[in-house]
Amino acid sequence: MPLTIDVLTLFPRMLDGFLAESILGKGIAAGHLAVKVHDVRAWSTDKHRRADDRPFGGGAGMVMTPEPVFAAIEQLQTPGCRRIYLTPDGTPLSPALACELSQQPHLIFLSGHYEGIDQRIRQRVIDQEISIGDYVLTNGTLAAAVAIDALARFIPGVLGEEKSLTHESFTNKLLDFPQYTRPAEFRGMSVPEVLLSGNHAEIEKWRHARQVEKTRQVRPDLLK
Ligand code: ADE
Repeated sequence: MPLTIDVLTLFPRMLDGFLAESILGKGIAAGHLAVKVHDVRAWSTDKHRRADDRPFGGGAGMVMTPEPVFAAIEQLQTPGCRRIYLTPDGTPLSPALACELSQQPHLIFLSGHYEGIDQRIRQRVIDQEISIGDYVLTNGTLAAAVAIDALARFIPGVLGEEKSLTHESFTNKLLDFPQYTRPAEFRGMSVPEVLLSGNHAEIEKWRHARQVEKTRQVRPDLLK
Protein backbone atom coordinates (compact mmCIF):
# COMPACT_ATOMS: atom_id res chain seq x y z
CA MET A 1 0.00 0.00 0.00
CA PRO A 2 1.45 3.37 -0.95
CA LEU A 3 1.61 6.22 1.56
CA THR A 4 -1.69 8.11 1.74
CA ILE A 5 -1.67 11.78 2.73
CA ASP A 6 -4.83 13.68 3.60
CA VAL A 7 -4.44 17.47 3.65
CA LEU A 8 -6.96 19.57 5.57
CA THR A 9 -6.93 23.20 4.54
CA LEU A 10 -9.13 26.27 4.11
CA PHE A 11 -7.54 26.85 0.68
CA PRO A 12 -7.61 23.53 -1.21
CA ARG A 13 -7.08 25.11 -4.65
CA MET A 14 -3.64 26.33 -3.55
CA LEU A 15 -2.44 22.74 -4.03
CA ASP A 16 -3.92 22.00 -7.47
CA GLY A 17 -0.96 22.96 -9.64
CA PHE A 18 1.58 21.72 -7.14
CA LEU A 19 0.16 18.19 -7.02
CA ALA A 20 -0.27 17.93 -10.80
CA GLU A 21 3.20 19.03 -11.91
CA SER A 22 6.67 17.61 -12.25
CA ILE A 23 8.19 14.79 -10.24
CA LEU A 24 5.48 14.83 -7.59
CA GLY A 25 2.69 14.72 -10.20
CA LYS A 26 4.39 11.76 -11.87
CA GLY A 27 4.90 10.00 -8.53
CA ILE A 28 1.20 10.33 -7.74
CA ALA A 29 0.18 9.23 -11.25
CA ALA A 30 2.46 6.19 -10.92
CA GLY A 31 0.84 5.28 -7.58
CA HIS A 32 3.92 5.79 -5.39
CA LEU A 33 1.83 7.97 -3.08
CA ALA A 34 -1.73 9.25 -2.87
CA VAL A 35 -2.60 12.81 -1.82
CA LYS A 36 -6.17 13.86 -1.03
CA VAL A 37 -6.96 17.51 -0.40
CA HIS A 38 -9.98 18.43 1.72
CA ASP A 39 -11.65 21.75 2.46
CA VAL A 40 -12.15 21.94 6.24
CA ARG A 41 -15.35 23.89 5.59
CA ALA A 42 -16.95 20.69 4.29
CA TRP A 43 -17.21 19.58 7.95
CA SER A 44 -18.64 22.88 9.18
CA THR A 45 -22.22 22.72 10.43
CA ASP A 46 -22.51 26.51 10.44
CA LYS A 47 -24.94 27.79 7.78
CA HIS A 48 -22.18 30.01 6.30
CA ARG A 49 -19.72 27.07 6.41
CA ARG A 50 -17.47 29.04 8.76
CA ALA A 51 -14.46 27.24 10.17
CA ASP A 52 -12.89 30.14 12.08
CA ASP A 53 -13.85 32.71 14.69
CA ARG A 54 -12.46 35.61 16.74
CA PRO A 55 -10.06 34.69 19.55
CA PHE A 56 -11.25 34.64 23.16
CA GLY A 57 -9.29 37.24 25.13
CA GLY A 58 -9.04 39.55 22.13
CA GLY A 59 -6.33 40.07 19.55
CA ALA A 60 -6.03 40.36 15.80
CA GLY A 61 -7.08 37.79 13.23
CA MET A 62 -9.12 34.63 13.26
CA VAL A 63 -8.66 31.25 14.91
CA MET A 64 -9.79 27.91 13.46
CA THR A 65 -12.68 26.46 15.45
CA PRO A 66 -12.48 22.96 16.92
CA GLU A 67 -15.76 21.42 15.68
CA PRO A 68 -15.06 20.99 11.94
CA VAL A 69 -11.42 20.01 12.48
CA PHE A 70 -12.30 17.34 15.06
CA ALA A 71 -15.03 16.01 12.76
CA ALA A 72 -12.69 15.92 9.75
CA ILE A 73 -9.83 14.20 11.57
CA GLU A 74 -12.15 11.72 13.29
CA GLN A 75 -13.58 10.77 9.90
CA LEU A 76 -10.25 10.53 8.04
CA GLN A 77 -7.96 8.98 10.66
CA THR A 78 -6.95 5.32 10.53
CA PRO A 79 -5.24 3.16 13.19
CA GLY A 80 -1.54 4.04 13.19
CA CYS A 81 -1.87 7.22 11.13
CA ARG A 82 0.08 10.32 12.14
CA ARG A 83 -1.82 13.58 12.52
CA ILE A 84 0.41 16.57 11.86
CA TYR A 85 -0.20 20.28 12.34
CA LEU A 86 1.93 22.69 10.29
CA THR A 87 2.94 25.65 12.44
CA PRO A 88 5.92 28.00 12.82
CA ASP A 89 6.22 26.89 16.49
CA GLY A 90 6.62 23.21 15.57
CA THR A 91 9.66 20.91 15.27
CA PRO A 92 11.84 22.04 12.33
CA LEU A 93 11.50 19.88 9.21
CA SER A 94 14.80 18.11 8.46
CA PRO A 95 15.88 15.46 5.96
CA ALA A 96 15.71 12.86 8.76
CA LEU A 97 12.16 13.85 9.66
CA ALA A 98 11.10 13.92 5.99
CA CYS A 99 12.54 10.42 5.55
CA GLU A 100 10.75 9.15 8.66
CA LEU A 101 7.44 10.59 7.45
CA SER A 102 7.91 8.93 4.06
CA GLN A 103 7.89 5.53 5.80
CA GLN A 104 4.52 6.00 7.51
CA PRO A 105 1.40 4.36 6.08
CA HIS A 106 -0.92 7.36 6.48
CA LEU A 107 -0.41 11.05 7.28
CA ILE A 108 -2.98 13.74 7.96
CA PHE A 109 -1.67 17.29 7.50
CA LEU A 110 -3.66 20.10 9.06
CA SER A 111 -2.78 23.57 7.80
CA GLY A 112 -4.15 26.44 9.81
CA HIS A 113 -4.48 30.19 9.74
CA TYR A 114 -1.22 31.84 10.69
CA GLU A 115 -2.94 33.32 13.75
CA GLY A 116 -3.56 29.79 14.84
CA ILE A 117 -6.06 27.11 15.67
CA ASP A 118 -7.99 26.39 18.84
CA GLN A 119 -5.55 24.85 21.34
CA ARG A 120 -7.90 21.93 22.02
CA ILE A 121 -7.28 20.65 18.48
CA ARG A 122 -3.55 20.47 19.23
CA GLN A 123 -4.26 18.88 22.58
CA ARG A 124 -6.52 16.08 21.38
CA VAL A 125 -6.26 15.26 17.68
CA ILE A 126 -2.68 16.23 16.72
CA ASP A 127 0.32 13.89 17.21
CA GLN A 128 3.13 16.08 15.89
CA GLU A 129 3.72 19.76 15.06
CA ILE A 130 6.10 20.66 12.24
CA SER A 131 7.60 23.96 11.07
CA ILE A 132 9.24 24.42 7.68
CA GLY A 133 11.40 27.32 8.87
CA ASP A 134 11.72 30.44 10.99
CA TYR A 135 9.38 32.67 9.02
CA VAL A 136 5.61 33.01 9.07
CA LEU A 137 3.37 32.16 6.12
CA THR A 138 -0.19 33.50 5.79
CA ASN A 139 -1.45 29.94 6.23
CA GLY A 140 0.00 26.45 6.53
CA THR A 141 -1.03 25.14 3.10
CA LEU A 142 2.28 25.89 1.42
CA ALA A 143 4.03 24.40 4.46
CA ALA A 144 2.10 21.16 3.90
CA ALA A 145 3.13 21.28 0.23
CA VAL A 146 6.79 21.71 1.20
CA ALA A 147 6.63 18.80 3.64
CA ILE A 148 4.94 16.56 1.04
CA ASP A 149 7.54 17.47 -1.59
CA ALA A 150 10.45 16.85 0.79
CA LEU A 151 9.16 13.49 2.01
CA ALA A 152 8.04 12.26 -1.44
CA ARG A 153 11.66 12.31 -2.57
CA PHE A 154 12.39 9.53 -0.06
CA ILE A 155 9.68 7.21 -1.41
CA PRO A 156 11.32 4.55 -3.61
CA GLY A 157 10.52 5.14 -7.28
CA VAL A 158 9.56 8.81 -6.97
CA LEU A 159 12.99 10.05 -8.04
CA GLY A 160 14.00 8.27 -11.22
CA GLU A 161 17.59 7.70 -10.19
CA GLU A 162 18.13 6.62 -6.58
CA LYS A 163 21.59 8.10 -6.93
CA SER A 164 20.29 11.66 -7.03
CA LEU A 165 19.50 11.31 -3.32
CA THR A 166 22.97 10.28 -2.24
CA HIS A 167 24.95 13.25 -3.51
CA GLU A 168 22.65 16.16 -2.88
CA SER A 169 22.77 18.89 -0.24
CA PHE A 170 22.46 17.74 3.42
CA THR A 171 22.71 13.99 2.76
CA ASN A 172 26.26 14.08 4.09
CA LYS A 173 25.88 17.36 6.02
CA LEU A 174 27.44 19.28 3.13
CA LEU A 175 25.83 21.61 0.63
CA ASP A 176 25.80 20.61 -3.02
CA PHE A 177 28.61 21.08 -5.57
CA PRO A 178 28.13 23.26 -8.69
CA GLN A 179 26.71 21.61 -11.79
CA TYR A 180 27.41 22.38 -15.46
CA THR A 181 25.92 21.20 -18.74
CA ARG A 182 26.50 22.08 -22.41
CA PRO A 183 27.77 24.31 -23.91
CA ALA A 184 31.30 23.94 -22.49
CA GLU A 185 31.92 27.61 -23.30
CA PHE A 186 29.19 30.23 -22.67
CA ARG A 187 29.58 34.03 -22.85
CA GLY A 188 33.23 33.76 -21.99
CA MET A 189 32.66 31.39 -19.05
CA SER A 190 34.09 27.92 -19.37
CA VAL A 191 33.22 24.72 -17.53
CA PRO A 192 35.98 23.68 -15.07
CA GLU A 193 38.53 21.57 -16.96
CA VAL A 194 38.34 18.62 -14.55
CA LEU A 195 34.65 17.97 -15.39
CA LEU A 196 35.57 17.46 -19.04
CA SER A 197 38.53 15.20 -18.20
CA GLY A 198 36.62 11.94 -17.74
CA ASN A 199 38.77 11.24 -14.67
CA HIS A 200 36.16 10.14 -12.13
CA ALA A 201 38.46 10.13 -9.11
CA GLU A 202 39.58 13.69 -9.85
CA ILE A 203 35.98 14.78 -10.44
CA GLU A 204 34.91 13.33 -7.07
CA LYS A 205 37.80 15.11 -5.36
CA TRP A 206 36.95 18.43 -7.03
CA ARG A 207 33.26 18.13 -6.18
CA HIS A 208 33.96 17.32 -2.54
CA ALA A 209 36.31 20.29 -2.25
CA ARG A 210 33.63 22.61 -3.70
CA GLN A 211 31.09 21.19 -1.22
CA VAL A 212 33.34 21.90 1.75
CA GLU A 213 34.15 25.39 0.42
CA LYS A 214 30.47 26.27 -0.15
CA THR A 215 29.40 24.89 3.23
CA ARG A 216 32.16 26.83 5.04
CA GLN A 217 31.00 30.06 3.32
CA VAL A 218 27.24 29.72 3.63
CA ARG A 219 26.49 27.24 6.44
CA PRO A 220 29.51 26.90 8.74
CA ASP A 221 27.13 25.54 11.40
CA LEU A 222 26.82 22.30 9.39
CA LEU A 223 30.55 21.63 9.72
CA LYS A 224 30.56 21.66 13.53
N1 ADE B 1 2.30 28.15 8.98
C1 ADE B 1 2.69 29.44 8.88
N2 ADE B 1 4.02 29.54 8.85
C2 ADE B 1 4.52 28.25 8.94
C3 ADE B 1 5.83 27.70 8.95
N3 ADE B 1 6.92 28.45 8.90
N4 ADE B 1 5.94 26.36 9.05
C4 ADE B 1 4.83 25.58 9.12
N5 ADE B 1 3.58 26.04 9.11
C5 ADE B 1 3.41 27.38 9.01
